[in-house]
Amino acid sequence: MSTILISGGTGLVGRALTKALLDKGHDVIILTRNVAKAGTATSRLRYATWDPAAGTLDPDALLQADAIVHLAGAGVAEQRWTKKRKAEILNSRVMSGHLLSKALSENPHTVKTFITASAIGWYGPDREMNKENHSSGAFTEAAPAFTDFLGDTCRQWEESTLSIADKVRRVCLRIGIVLTPDGGALKEFLKPIRFGLGAIMGSGTQMVSWIHCDDLVRMILFALEENKLIGVYNAVAPVPVTNKELVIKLARQKRGNMFVPFPVPAFVLKIMLGEMSIEVLKSCTVSSTKVTREGFVFLYPSIDAAVKSFV
Ligand SMILES: NC(=O)c1ccc[n+]([C@@H]2O[C@H](COP(=O)([O-])OP(=O)(O)OC[C@H]3O[C@@H](n4cnc5c(N)ncnc54)[C@H](OP(=O)(O)O)[C@@H]3O)[C@@H](O)[C@H]2O)c1
Repeated sequence: MSTILISGGTGLVGRALTKALLDKGHDVIILTRNVAKAGTATSRLRYATWDPAAGTLDPDALLQADAIVHLAGAGVAEQRWTKKRKAEILNSRVMSGHLLSKALSENPHTVKTFITASAIGWYGPDREMNKENHSSGAFTEAAPAFTDFLGDTCRQWEESTLSIADKVRRVCLRIGIVLTPDGGALKEFLKPIRFGLGAIMGSGTQMVSWIHCDDLVRMILFALEENKLIGVYNAVAPVPVTNKELVIKLARQKRGNMFVPFPVPAFVLKIMLGEMSIEVLKSCTVSSTKVTREGFVFLYPSIDAAVKSFV
């Protein structure tokens, strides 16, 4: 039994991870900016305060942790990307990463494993990236960060905890679109489907590299347990889907044939979402080969298996 400290443990992934860790007999400490709002503590789950913007962190939380899972960061798809919001998305990740790095280097601790979230936003769109690299196929972990807002954010996010790897085993998961009935992207996909509309984004031919939340949680547990895992791994299902395939399969699962496919033109998405529309329209095919070579087995390798679980 270990004690796992989870930053951003109150979020979508953090809540599912906390449950899985508690079920496995581990203790959990959640690092949150607001303990009063975070939840109810138990003998095996407690909450500790930090404030990445102010650079403060409860030192007791660090003292008790055997491993850290760093998930914190302002939601990327929650709000329109204004200049202010983009700064918040970047700073919440970089400042929290620097704070954890500093705390680990300046305080006594027995942390043996550090796992940080990153995102497949690291990679650019399929076509442009492949042109640059003169290659075809899915992005592997060796590909350089793309030079757009998300690529730069992911690069600085990952760099903010790189120094931890000098003394502690560090694993970085570049996470794809997380699908779970509990919220996030799936909730957005299902909104129009509830009204009988299968909203296909743009041409619908863009590839979506996704992962079932249960598999992401299992991959984090795998990374905590398997000491051979070091460095960056893509956290995406082995079989990506097109946006159209994803929407149609979700609609069929929820409504049988009682829905109308409804293409939302790219220019409408640009007006509705602003710069964030790039992410919805972008095709990004990412490889999961590195983590499966280490022995990770997906419960939901294909979208059919995942969609069936969202009853
Ligand atoms: N969900 C996805 O599809 C997806 C895809 C790729 C990558 N990821 C990454 O995986 C991580 C976990 O994802 P998630 O969906 O669980 O995220 P989430 O639901 O948005 O939760 C993230 C947590 O971060 C904390 N947070 C929010 N704003 C913050 C700020 N300004 N400064 C510091 N902390 C802040 C919050 O905890 P407190 O309010 O308790 O402090 C929040 O519960 C995130 O870093 C996300 O970018 C997620």
